[in-house]
Amino acid sequence: MGAASSFLCTQADAIPGQLIAGTLPAVRHCIVYGKEDGTLREETQQLPTVTDQSDHVWVRVHAVGLNPVDAKNVVGDKFPHHWRIVRSWVRSALVAGTIPGFDYAGTVAALPKHGRALKCNADDLPALKVGDAVFGTMPALQGTLATYIAAPRHQMWHKPESLSFVQAAALPLVGLTAYQCLQPHMAFRNEKDGASNASASSVLVVGGSGGTGHVAIQVARNLGARCVTAVCSTRNVAFCHQQGATYVVDYTANGGDKDTLRRHLLETGPACPFDIVLDCVSSADPRDQQTFSYRQLLQQDVHIQKLLNEAAVYRRLGGPSLDWLRAGMEQKLGWTGVWKYTTTKRNSNDDRLFWIRFPHTSLQLQALSIMANQGQLLPKVEKVYSFSATDVERAFDDLLSRRVRGKIVVELVKETDQQKD
Ligand SMILES: NC(=O)c1ccc[n+]([C@@H]2O[C@H](COP(=O)([O-])OP(=O)(O)OC[C@H]3O[C@@H](n4cnc5c(N)ncnc54)[C@H](OP(=O)(O)O)[C@@H]3O)[C@@H](O)[C@H]2O)c1
Repeated sequence: MGAASSFLCTQADAIPGQLIAGTLPAVRHCIVYGKEDGTLREETQQLPTVTDQSDHVWVRVHAVGLNPVDAKNVVGDKFPHHWRIVRSWVRSALVAGTIPGFDYAGTVAALPKHGRALKCNADDLPALKVGDAVFGTMPALQGTLATYIAAPRHQMWHKPESLSFVQAAALPLVGLTAYQCLQPHMAFRNEKDGASNASASSVLVVGGSGGTGHVAIQVARNLGARCVTAVCSTRNVAFCHQQGATYVVDYTANGGDKDTLRRHLLETGPACPFDIVLDCVSSADPRDQQTFSYRQLLQQDVHIQKLLNEAAVYRRLGGPSLDWLRAGMEQKLGWTGVWKYTTTKRNSNDDRLFWIRFPHTSLQLQALSIMANQGQLLPKVEKVYSFSATDVERAFDDLLSRRVRGKIVVELVKETDQQKD
């Protein structure tokens, strides 16, 4: 696949679909998962019409934000690491041939002329016209690394004007994760403590320099957190402060031993006992077994336990397969009791694996967009890659290294080309 500009389709390619307002090219160019783990390939696909998807909007993709889940083949960390055969079967049967990517920012290329989307002026869906700039997510395994995508309208909002397409594409998945994890608990606390006290919560973000962590620090501040403590390595301390962290604890200090981390937490924690812990690091990844476990430290260490307020919640973004199953039941069925009745309570905290919800998130994207337009939320993009299988493979390697500061984005339409459109 060559430069992104070689994909730009001319109006002569357009097919006048019966239900489409706007124009679409006859084909789209995309990147798909290959059969072998870690491989990707480039493909050209015919564009279907939108007749059977009247609540979807065709978007010309300008930029795609990548997340670790894309590099882990979407289903990768939901199965035990040693289940190699199952993992490779799932990859070849379910994932191979699908387009990677959840996040996108782009412009509306075509809308269904009839159908629910146009009839519906519900407040919780964006009112759109061809040419509008939007950002959002695609459902799992439907992918965004393509020149054009049919995106669900209930998973998008107008792109924040303050952000470029590249910055906006970096925001949806991590912004939604932070918002969905923090907002329910912070809203509750603020309400309980009185409307005038809009800054009642203390939040601890473990992995504060990563894609999710750095946005979570900013979202927590936007939601009124009184203080945010971040955990990261030495090289990211200043970065976490820049994101709005009140205190930053360096987990690599003194060679990265657990006792130093405990001591540093005990030095900073008492000023702001934690109401919410958002743990963006703990997972079933074998690398987590090599060092200390944050979960054990924060959940079982008697001294650290004193830093957590009585009703503190502990949300982690990864964990063993059984926890993914529990989180899936909570996510799909809304049954929170799954945690109460199927886990042995070793401590008083509400400890759960959190799994992001994508459907009907337009209003949450709107909330993030408002924060961005007010200058209070800015995803940091560490690297921008071009739209080729080789470059995306490199980006996946970066993500798998778990050393990314902020986000990685693939650019399909260069900002300079956008001026000409
Ligand atoms: N369940 C869900 O719905 C959901 C949603 C979003 C993300 N996730 C998962 O959450 C995890 C984090 O996602 P992400 O986008 O933030 O990943 P990421 O951007 O790849 O995270 C990289 C960051 O993690 C930090 N890090 C690595 N090991 C650490 C440690 N031991 N202690 C503290 N920080 C550490 C690194 O900082 P240093 O270089 O300073 O160590 C780096 O900045 C991934 O596994 C992802 O798949 C799950």
